[in-house]
Amino acid sequence: MLQDRFMHEAEHDPAALPAVDPDRSGYRPAAPGETVRANRSWWDDEAEDYYDEHGRFLGDDRFVWCPEGVDESRARLLGEVAGRAVLEVGCGAAQCSRWLAAQGARVVGVDLSGRMLAVAARLGRRPEAPGGAALVQADARTLPFRDASFDLACSAFGALPFVADPDQVMREVARVLRPGGRWVFSVTHPVRWAFPDDPGPAGLTAVRSYFDRTPYVEEDRNGTLTYAEHHRTLGDRVRDLVAAGLRLDNLVEPEWPADHHGSWGAWSPLRGRILPGTAIFVTHRPAGPG
Ligand SMILES: C[S@@+](CC[C@H](N)C(=O)[O-])C[C@H]1O[C@@H](n2cnc3c(N)ncnc32)[C@H](O)[C@@H]1O
Repeated sequence: MLQDRFMHEAEHDPAALPAVDPDRSGYRPAAPGETVRANRSWWDDEAEDYYDEHGRFLGDDRFVWCPEGVDESRARLLGEVAGRAVLEVGCGAAQCSRWLAAQGARVVGVDLSGRMLAVAARLGRRPEAPGGAALVQADARTLPFRDASFDLACSAFGALPFVADPDQVMREVARVLRPGGRWVFSVTHPVRWAFPDDPGPAGLTAVRSYFDRTPYVEEDRNGTLTYAEHHRTLGDRVRDLVAAGLRLDNLVEPEWPADHHGSWGAWSPLRGRILPGTAIFVTHRPAGPG
């Protein structure tokens, strides 16, 4: 994934792929429906490998916002969570949801992928796992919850980088949040879009326009989309949340800690010292009109 960036080591330049490779990657338009279909099956296929690769860094019952290691137990971007009804969007293996449950929150974790949720359910059955996090399979663009049913909502790289219509996710989260409720989400920092997905020196030279919103895609030999990651500039993200009636309270751009020597895909100490890798938006639904 583009950068993914987050967790996939795909090469972006189709010309650089071996001729025998059955899959192709590059940039082309991808509609909302085909994007979701492709990503559901991609995350299903990758669920176990993703956990094997990143589970140790994430910790089974921790709430880590990003590869820079910002941990909610110290950052407290969500504020008080005990006794609150909390929605986690794109929860994956639900590490964050279990941490929230351990703090006394009533949590629902939503994810598009049944197999990511199967990993979450398995981790939730460990004897030492904090109980109480409910899991629901759903598309974040159409949340199956009543209006104003959550006090807080959060997402650590869930859903938003992967949908063609993140404005729809913003509207849905705003709808299910009670007035005054906080919505905090982390995404790949938009600036990274301009740079190759490489943890080394090659990842320090911009090769694409930051302003080109054409998604990064992977497709099979028949041209069927198998994966998509969609870019939004910082301004796009702000416009999406403002249009949904949300207010921006803070934009956290975590710096790479000096004692953090690990890498995550294209996130590395080398790049982290120079370029932002993650943007964490802290927002809320206003309590009163407007
Ligand atoms: C990078 S993982 C984030 C999960 C977890 N926070 C982590 O760091 O492992 C992205 C998750 O978003 C989910 N996702 C992608 N598109 C989605 C959508 N439209 N609705 C809900 N979840 C989606 C994927 O299935 C995947 O579990």
